[in-house]
Amino acid sequence: MPEAPAATPPTQLPGRTAHGNPLRDATDRRLPRVPEPCALVVFGVTGDLSRKKLLPAIYDLANRGLLPTDFVLLGFARRDWGDGDFESLARKSAQEHARTPWSEEVWSRVCNNIRFVPGAFDDDEAFDTLKETLDDLCATHGIRGNAAFYLSIPPSMFPIVLKQMERTGMASNELNGGWRRVVVEKPFGHNLESALELNKLVDDVFTAEDVFRIDHYLGKETVQNILALRFANQLFEPIWNSNYVDSVQITMAEDVGIAGRAGFYDATGAARDVLQNHLLQLLALFAIEEPVEFSPESIQIEKIKVLRAISLPADLESYAIRGQYDQGWLAGERVLAYRAEKDVPADSKTESYAAVRLGIETRRWAGVPFYLRTGKRLPRRVTEIAIMFKKAPHLPFSRTDTQELGHNQLVVRVQPDEGLTLKFGSKVPGSAMEVRDVAMDFLYGEAFTESSPEAYERLILDVLIGDATLFPRNSEVEASWRVIDPLEAFWEGQQPCLYRAGEWGPKEADEMLARDGRAWRRP
Ligand code: BG6
Repeated sequence: MPEAPAATPPTQLPGRTAHGNPLRDATDRRLPRVPEPCALVVFGVTGDLSRKKLLPAIYDLANRGLLPTDFVLLGFARRDWGDGDFESLARKSAQEHARTPWSEEVWSRVCNNIRFVPGAFDDDEAFDTLKETLDDLCATHGIRGNAAFYLSIPPSMFPIVLKQMERTGMASNELNGGWRRVVVEKPFGHNLESALELNKLVDDVFTAEDVFRIDHYLGKETVQNILALRFANQLFEPIWNSNYVDSVQITMAEDVGIAGRAGFYDATGAARDVLQNHLLQLLALFAIEEPVEFSPESIQIEKIKVLRAISLPADLESYAIRGQYDQGWLAGERVLAYRAEKDVPADSKTESYAAVRLGIETRRWAGVPFYLRTGKRLPRRVTEIAIMFKKAPHLPFSRTDTQELGHNQLVVRVQPDEGLTLKFGSKVPGSAMEVRDVAMDFLYGEAFTESSPEAYERLILDVLIGDATLFPRNSEVEASWRVIDPLEAFWEGQQPCLYRAGEWGPKEADEMLARDGRAWRRP
């Protein structure tokens, strides 16, 4: 009998495996998630972000066994401190804010490798000492020249610190025989022009793939789950388009005020603080096409397409609303008006609330309004994406007890109570044919025994591993400013609409949706 011809392997495009699911491709590779030996240098290590997020995240990583044995934490700040003072600060921060339980044994491993270098950013001598200390540690602690520099400092300080790193040779991969990476915190500039300058500044000192811009929302588990939801399931993708979706609401509400950050916040406002980054990143992930593979480049290619396709409404007067909180009540306590907060000018026009209707000019999303809103001193802290589906084209229940049915809704809850809720019509038990809306809930906390890592835990680990998937690139930042700049220009000099603290924003934002025959969801 003639031999059967050998089976021809299926044709594969580069970057794709035969089964073609980009999420499975990534899992199958089972990448080791422990970084190589390295140092993490934190500038501004005594600041708020460092104490509340970075130092606790480092402890949590150590506790989970995700730091290499040869790991050094090096702090730099303007304090007359030694290693011991820094160790006390780091210990206190971890004890107060870490996610995982406290363990002296874990801490003793971390604190053996903690160093502090005091100095100001314009102090050449201090930077020379920092460089020597780092070189020393590389030689004695087996960290092979690998170091990440975390700029937990005001953006106005970036140029001087970057120049110091360049001057001392600390930033160079070649000179140090290992990798050198830099982590930049948002805000990434104040507008497109300053973002371009900042990007150039950073790119002059570090190579593009060694720059990690942190948008901590991308480190949140539920945000990453948007990709799993869409591309690991058969169920949702067919209805993820303008044929089925009526509108999308993205809400980031906070009950806190400006939390003593008047200096930063009053010069920034809600649109620059979170709309430009967190909310547009959520929108981009929600709306992207399937990436060719689960790699930083492929995901970024798809996100940038969405960001570039965003359109602003022609009628900004009606569809771009900003507000500022007035005094009011929250959780039974009287709270101050924004303008009465410490260090806020009494005539400040800065917005603590912003709502806007955006479009995405693609075949998939043409005609679907995306309503984005964010605000401080709203009734509660909640971030969610709510997808309102079109109503069923026909309801054969006219001779029954069924009243008007709502839209089917899928709500992706980013925080708190991370999970999904699906709202749909269901028959009420009994002999009558009565249909009412019900909700089906998936809660992360119940479905998985392990609690989700904090966003900073995940992102610091990714920096040390060198995985840039969850970090926005230059082009994304620039495309986002192209959306925000015209809004800011339109708002310039205008008084924001007032809303009472503890309420869901100004009435003008409700009118914006009512004009379209819709209403905000009450999360
Ligand atoms: C930051 C903003 O990026 O995000 C803050 O600058 C805001 O104004 C914070 O309060 C909210 O983060 P989270 O993770 O608490 O939702």
